[in-house]
Amino acid sequence: MPQPSPPPLYKQYFIDRSDERVDLFRKLAEQFGVRSALYPGSFVQISPSFVIPRVVYVDSDRRIPRFFGDPAVQEYVESRKEYGESPEIRYHHQSYEDDIGEPPGNFDLLISQYAGFISAACKRYLKRGGLLVANDSHGDASMARIDPDFELVAAIDRRGEKFSVKTSDLDRYFLPKRPVEITAELLRQRGRGIGYTTPASSYLFRKIG
Ligand SMILES: C[S@@+](CC[C@H](N)C(=O)[O-])C[C@H]1O[C@@H](n2cnc3c(N)ncnc32)[C@H](O)[C@@H]1O
Repeated sequence: MPQPSPPPLYKQYFIDRSDERVDLFRKLAEQFGVRSALYPGSFVQISPSFVIPRVVYVDSDRRIPRFFGDPAVQEYVESRKEYGESPEIRYHHQSYEDDIGEPPGNFDLLISQYAGFISAACKRYLKRGGLLVANDSHGDASMARIDPDFELVAAIDRRGEKFSVKTSDLDRYFLPKRPVEITAELLRQRGRGIGYTTPASSYLFRKIG
């Protein structure tokens, strides 16, 4: 059987830019037994579905309904999936700030990548003991770091499309280069991350609250 070609938007934004990040999601699935994920602000980044059987995508971009409504997306994911069952892919075309209609405490993993303050808006959908993977591009990792509902469990390094999960020496992360009191208000005002002495590409938190 010939391999189905990638959906054009996914190819343009993720394959052609060598930014699929499959290995990030693979490592989380393998090392932490992740079987379900919620991805607010996903745009068309369907790579979590290659390694996680049940993924719900949320994005307000106007291209979303057409993209996810195309059966070619399911076919393409089928051709790349690394697990046995049929992929469950759903999407909500809306703001993740509004109620997305998913039951609370229903996902193993919440994904926050370059799309605002997802940790606060969507943590209710994450299981207790579930994981949040966040980068600090928009300040969301810093926000999770000061949220008592989350504890830092790993830092994730990236080399191209290879990712490694570090669970030791976590004290060296989140040390600001310049003295600053990090508050939710400051982070929301800035809308971008803080300069840290040892930055990581993403951070992994466990929901404890
Ligand atoms: C820079 S893209 C990041 C896409 C993807 N997460 C990645 O890592 O490549 C930001 C995406 O977040 C979406 N977004 C931003 N704020 C949102 C909100 N409040 N609700 C839903 N989607 C949002 C935008 O529509 C856009 O598709």
